[in-house]
Order: sequence, then C-alpha cells, then structure tokens
Amino acid sequence: MHDYDTFRFDSKAEMLEKSEQYWNPDKTRFWSDSGVDLVIDRREGYLLWDMDGRRLIDVHLNGGTYNLGHRNPEVVGAVKAAMDQFDIGNHHFPSLGRTALAEALISTAPEGLTKVAYASGGGEAIDIAIKSARHATQKRKIVSIVKAYHGHTGLAVATGDDRFSKLFLADRPAEFPQVPFNDIAAMEHALSGRDVAAVIMETIPATYGFPLPQPGYLEQVKVICEKYGALYIADEVQTGLMRTGELWAIAKHNIAPDILVTGKGLSGGIYPIAAVLLSEQSGAWLREDGFGHISTFGGAELGCVAALKTLEISNRPEVRSMVHYIADLVGSGLQEVQAAHPEWFTAIRQNGVVLGLEFAHPEGAKFVMRELYQLGVWAIFSTLDPRVLQYKPGILMAPDLVEELLDRTSLAIARAAHTAAGSGRKAS
Ligand SMILES: Cc1ncc(COP(=O)(O)O)c(C=O)c1O
Repeated sequence: MHDYDTFRFDSKAEMLEKSEQYWNPDKTRFWSDSGVDLVIDRREGYLLWDMDGRRLIDVHLNGGTYNLGHRNPEVVGAVKAAMDQFDIGNHHFPSLGRTALAEALISTAPEGLTKVAYASGGGEAIDIAIKSARHATQKRKIVSIVKAYHGHTGLAVATGDDRFSKLFLADRPAEFPQVPFNDIAAMEHALSGRDVAAVIMETIPATYGFPLPQPGYLEQVKVICEKYGALYIADEVQTGLMRTGELWAIAKHNIAPDILVTGKGLSGGIYPIAAVLLSEQSGAWLREDGFGHISTFGGAELGCVAALKTLEISNRPEVRSMVHYIADLVGSGLQEVQAAHPEWFTAIRQNGVVLGLEFAHPEGAKFVMRELYQLGVWAIFSTLDPRVLQYKPGILMAPDLVEELLDRTSLAIARAAHTAAGSGRKAS
C-alpha cells in the first residue's frame, strides 16, 4: 500500500491503470512504451525515487523548474512561513507580494525593463508578452523560429511547431510566420515589410535541442528588430535564473530585450508563478488599462514569496561561481566520453549547465535516455530533434553527485551506441 494521506494506491500497477483510465491514456502509455515506467514518488535535492523505489539523478529538472533541487529547504521554508500570513491574494488590488517581487525582478533585469506583469505559467506569460507587443506596436504579426516552442496557451502555441499547434487548429501561419534559426537573411526578409509586432526568441531553443546561436546572431536580430520597428521578446523560461552562469542568458549577448519572459524555475518548483518583464514602451497598456490582462492566479502572493527566495538564492555570488564550476566539470567529463565515441556522440552543445548532447541517429537521444533510466539517471530527449538529449544539471549540484552522474552517463552512452547500432541504424 502506498499511502499519501489524502489518497492511496495499492500498487504502481494500479496507479498506472488509473492514470490511463482517468487522467491521460496516451501520455501514460507513451512512457511505458518508451521504456520509462516512471511514477515520481519521493523527491529531494537532485534525486527522485520512483514508486517502486528506484533512485534517479534528475537532469531533466522539468525544464529547469527544479534548478535549485526538489523541495529546496529554503524555498519550502519561505513558503511555509508565508502560509501563516498569506494566500494567493486578490489580483484586483495593489498587492504586497506582487509589488515586492516586481521590484526584485526589475532590479536584476537587463536595462530598459521597468514593469512586471504576472501569469500562472509560462504559456500565459508568453501570451501576455505577445499581447503587449501587439498593443505597443499596433501590429499583429509575431515571428518565431522554425521548431520553436513557447507553450501551449492560445497565442503561445501559434508561435510553435505544427506538432503543437495543429491538434487544436491553432496554426495561423499568416499572423505567425517562422524563419530558420541562425538565418539572419531570412529574419531580415520576414521583418522588412515593417508589419511585425515582435520577434520571439529563446536565447537557446530548448525543445529544439539547445542549438547554440551563432556568434552575433541574436545581436543582429535585435538590430534588425530596431530597424523595422519590431520588438524583441526574450523567452528565458528555460535559459534564465543562472543556468548559463548569468541570471539572464540574454545578458551574455549584451541585448536589452523589449520584453523578457521567465517561468519554470522562478517558482522553485514549489508554487506556480511566471512573469513578464516589460519596457515602458511594451508595458504601455499597464498605464492605459490596468485591467487589460486579468489572471486570478497570476502572481499569486505565495508564488511571489517562492520566487523572491528563488531569485535571492540564484543571485548569490557563491551560486554563480558554483554554476561555472559545475559547468566546467560536466563539460570536461563529457568531452572525455565523447572522445571515446566520436562517431556516435557527435556534439556537445553547452552554455553553463544548459546542455544538449547530440547523437548519430535520428532518434539517438531516445536510446541514451532509456539506458540512462536503467542506470539511475533521468534525462529527456528533445521533442523537436530526438537526436539530441537535453542534459540539465542543477545549479546547486554537489561535485560528488556530478561525478556519479558522469560515470553513469559514460556507461549509458556506451551501451546506447550498441543498442542503436543493433536497431539497424547508424551508430559506432
Ligand atoms: C521556452 C519555453 N517557453 C514557454 C514554456 C511554457 O511554459 P509552461 O509549461 O509553464 O506554460 C515552456 C515550457 O516548456 C518553455 O520551455
């Protein structure tokens, strides 16, 4: 019997049966069929335990949500204490938590960002960013990159790949044109009609497998935006919060975006919250019609407390140094593994602890994911480029756990080379 106080299951098998019956049949089956029968039970730091007791090192972190580890004691402590005084608050009124977090976010933000609007999750925050750009420019078009993913809500999903938009007839190509990543000529062509409200860009596109922007690419996109009167929306939902060794990855490019979106890790994984940082221009609607975007749970005061603590921890000088140290350790360890399998393990894409590992098979990352899972590591393939494994160590990961991770990864990559080769496709 697995007793969780408010609910219980006799066994993992019963839980999976009910998951299929009452929750999401396709998703439940997808993971079982993929060789990952994970039902997350206990969680602590960068470790997870499946319902059957299997221990896993988590380098998926749900896209960086668990940047600070699962149930980070400082974030949990702050939220527990806040629950003696606060709830989600009332979004209609000036709010203690929302104001305090807005001030903290703006104090860390790239130059020119002056206001904060809140959402309950990343997709809603992207919707707010798009609406803000449209209001400020009085234009409709939003340009994103091919293989983009910015969330599943109404406007966000329209900027993404067909994989996400077609199911609910949300693809609207005329209003949401896409251009290939790292193709500056295509970007200029898309913007040259001066009818584009904004370009939305992840600093390193996560769901596409973290391809790195070519030197100068993002900077040139910003220049082109300015030339043609379009705003630049930096989606930092996965790349922000110190994962690249800077609080915001876009700061490494010296770009002052017109809008910056943050989510996932901002909650410390404890209480959902996402935020949109706006310039005076893009946030004009906040002066004109403060009820222009309404969200009951957006900026919930308990979420603000979680985010304030998360931001404070992430910004500590020792944490910044730690990220650089972990990044070096992981990077050099992986280079050694790669040297042993150069034909199979074809590239390491890295910026801080944002990593994509590329393999010589159209679905190479799925083979590595399965072997890692067997060896006690949870990392996920990139949906829009399954050659690439997303590999995301946490920013507070202890060096001995990093060493253990690398040992297991080395073995998994070697084993996956054989299983992929056995599947009849290219692998060394
Ligand atoms: C880059 C990026 N933007 C936006 C989102 C949407 O966030 P949410 O799932 O909280 O709606 C995601 C989610 O994975 C993301 O990776």
